[in-house]
Amino acid sequence: MSVLNTINKDNLPKHLAIIMDGNGRWAKQQGLLRTIGHENGTKSVRITIENCAKLGIENLTLYAFSTENWNRPKLEVETLMKLLIKSLQKELITLQNNNIRLNAIGNLDMMPKSAQKELLEVMEKTKNNTQMTLTLALSYGSREEIVSAVKKIADKVKNNIISIDSIDDSIINKHLYTQNLPDVDLLIRTSGEHRISNFLLWQIAYAELFFSEVMWPDFREEHLYEALISYQKRERRFGKTSEQIK
Ligand code: IPE
Ligand code: IPE
Ligand code: MG
Repeated sequence: MSVLNTINKDNLPKHLAIIMDGNGRWAKQQGLLRTIGHENGTKSVRITIENCAKLGIENLTLYAFSTENWNRPKLEVETLMKLLIKSLQKELITLQNNNIRLNAIGNLDMMPKSAQKELLEVMEKTKNNTQMTLTLALSYGSREEIVSAVKKIADKVKNNIISIDSIDDSIINKHLYTQNLPDVDLLIRTSGEHRISNFLLWQIAYAELFFSEVMWPDFREEHLYEALISYQKRERRFGKTSEQIK
């Protein structure tokens, strides 16, 4: 029996999020430029997207560029932006063939105009696709997202649109960039780093975490399956006892 057959299609994460890390180290290990690592990372992105859609995962969110990544060398940032634009143009066909809708979260106003334009175009063209929602986190920082949500809510209170007493989890959810997405069920981080790096802090409150030693450019279907199999072996108790779950 192949590994794929051991995955239970009825117990897939509804929302899988991935911190795609290790492009730079992957390149360095082979004496190559960091940017070559990013280029090779785009192949892992395509393979992962296709596999998630085929499996039936409804929501996949990829951490592609953080608010902190703006502090990287100018040349690296420029290369990443160019790669994003190139990938959007090249992979529109992949999204259409697999019935995938593109979505984006983050402080998108910070992105270069050309990248914003390309994003909007691909989002518009794929808006009626239903197999999977692919969300790219771009210029994304969870703290920035929470600050912006707090400002929007405070403004509504000030203008008597909502009362302080009505503020609850659901109101906060509605003001986050992820307002239309369910909570994260499984979070994968590659490259052996065990940290969250300002990604979806609110949304991962009860996510299962999976850390892979593999550098992102080497991430293939077998690594995805390994994470999913690990996820399916876990008991998610959400604060209850094991007996209550059974
Ligand atoms: C992830 O790989 C890609 C981005 C953060 C944009 P890195 O570029 O962080 O690679 P390492 O962590 O330096 O190896
Ligand atoms: C997190 O990776 C951001 C993305 C994967 C886009 P980083 O490589 O930027 O994170 P740190 O700096 O190692 O925490
Ligand atoms: Mg990194």
